[in-house]
Amino acid sequence: MAEETYTGKVERTLVVFKPDSVQRGIVGELMSRFERVGLKINGIKMTSPDRDHLYHHYEVISKMASRWGEKALDGLVSYMMEGPVIAMVLEGVEAIEVVRKVVGPTDPKKADMGTIRGDYSHVALGYMHARKVGLPNLIHASGNTSEAEQEINHWFRPDELYDYPVLAEKYSR
Ligand code: CDP
Ligand code: MG
Repeated sequence: MAEETYTGKVERTLVVFKPDSVQRGIVGELMSRFERVGLKINGIKMTSPDRDHLYHHYEVISKMASRWGEKALDGLVSYMMEGPVIAMVLEGVEAIEVVRKVVGPTDPKKADMGTIRGDYSHVALGYMHARKVGLPNLIHASGNTSEAEQEINHWFRPDELYDYPVLAEKYSR
C-alpha cells in the first residue's frame, strides 16, 4: 500500500447499550463481540441519562432532528429513557469504523447476519418511524471522529477512563 494512502490510527469510540439490550439481558453477549475483535475497554458504567443529557447527545452532537425530524428525536429520547443504559469507551485501530462494522447499520432489517443488529433484532426502521416511536436497535456507536470525541467527553469524565496495556501490548516490547 502506498504510504500516503495509509490513514489508520488508534482511536477511542463510545458504545452505549440501549435500554432494550439491558432489559433483554444480553449485554454480556453483545460486549463479548467487541472483546472478541480485540478492542480495549477504557471505561464502563451503568447510568440513567436524563432528557437534557440525551438531547445533547442526539441533537447537539449528531443533529438527529434535522436528519430524521422532531418526532423521531422525541420518540428516540423517550425510548432511551425506558431504563438504565450501559455506556462504554472502546479503543483500537480505527475503532470507530470497526465498532460500526460489529454493530451493523441503523435499520435492523437491513443489518446483515453476523452484526449485532442483524443477529439480535428485526424491527424495521420504517415501521417504527411511521409510528413516531424510537427504534430499538440495541446499541449506540459513535458515527465519526467528531461524534466520538464529543460523545466521550459528554458521557465520561477523564478520571473515569483507564489506560492500560492489553496482553498483546504488554509483551510486545
Ligand atoms: O445509531 P445510528 O448512528 O446507526 O443511527 P442515527 O441515524 O444516528 O440515529 C440514532 C438512533 O435514532 C438510531 O440508532 C435509532 O435508535 C433512532 N432512530 C429512531 O428512533 N427513529 C428514526 N426514524 C431514526 C433513528
Ligand atoms: Mg448515529
